[in-house]
Amino acid sequence: MSRHPRGGTRRAIVAGNWKMHLLADEARDLAAAVAGGVDAAGPEVLLFPGHTLLAPVAEALEGSHRRSVEMGGQDLHPDAQGAHTGDVSGPQLVDAGCSWVLVGHSERRQHHNEGDGLLAAKLEAAHRAGLAPILCVGESESEREGGLTKEILDTQLEAGLFPWLDGAGADSAMDPAHLVLAYEPVWAIGTGKVATPDIAADAHRHLRQRLADHLGDDVAAAVRLLYGGSVKPDNAAELIAREEIDGFLVGGASLDAEKFLAIIRCC
Ligand code: PGA
Repeated sequence: MSRHPRGGTRRAIVAGNWKMHLLADEARDLAAAVAGGVDAAGPEVLLFPGHTLLAPVAEALEGSHRRSVEMGGQDLHPDAQGAHTGDVSGPQLVDAGCSWVLVGHSERRQHHNEGDGLLAAKLEAAHRAGLAPILCVGESESEREGGLTKEILDTQLEAGLFPWLDGAGADSAMDPAHLVLAYEPVWAIGTGKVATPDIAADAHRHLRQRLADHLGDDVAAAVRLLYGGSVKPDNAAELIAREEIDGFLVGGASLDAEKFLAIIRCC
């Protein structure tokens, strides 16, 4: 693992969540522009295109002859196959060229009623398929206003992450260095309201402490904690300057190669 620019051992990650945007030609062009602009010595760069764009993006990344950009799915079903119309499985994502997958993005939690128990099953499915999951956590605006942020984060870890780590994760030699969490306060996603560096750092410290309580200090120290929610080129530098923040999950700004590359350069 390369050294973090700030002297730690956690390599930064910058991930682009394309959500339900772009058509194949646009996706190919964007992936090629990103791959052409990244520096192998910089952060790990990940792209999360919609399912129909995985093949064109895989093609574009292969064509770029660079291994510095990897691809992931935006969601997966807990089962490896079966009668699940409209869903996608871990093995299908791997087959399409993915090495990563998002689990529990707030848009899945909110609009598809995904609860923490289901997310624990999805983490296990990702692990079984050989995909590295990024588990998204974060509080809503009313939860923050009600002073419930830490309680919500605790619940999301205790009901979503720890059951998996204590079960299959524990007996199948999961490397904690591969565990990645994204703190994405729901009120900051797509709203232009970015969390201040203090708010983000505070939440990240809390998450790492909870991980340390459950997994021990050494393991917790290896987990990468990304921030997501209205990250833009003009706020990325002050966020990444905080040692608690190991990178970003970027939505809107990841659809523009220049903006996304500018964020990558901050890391
Ligand atoms: P945003 O989205 O950067 O557009 O706020 C972040 C995300 O949903 O992952």
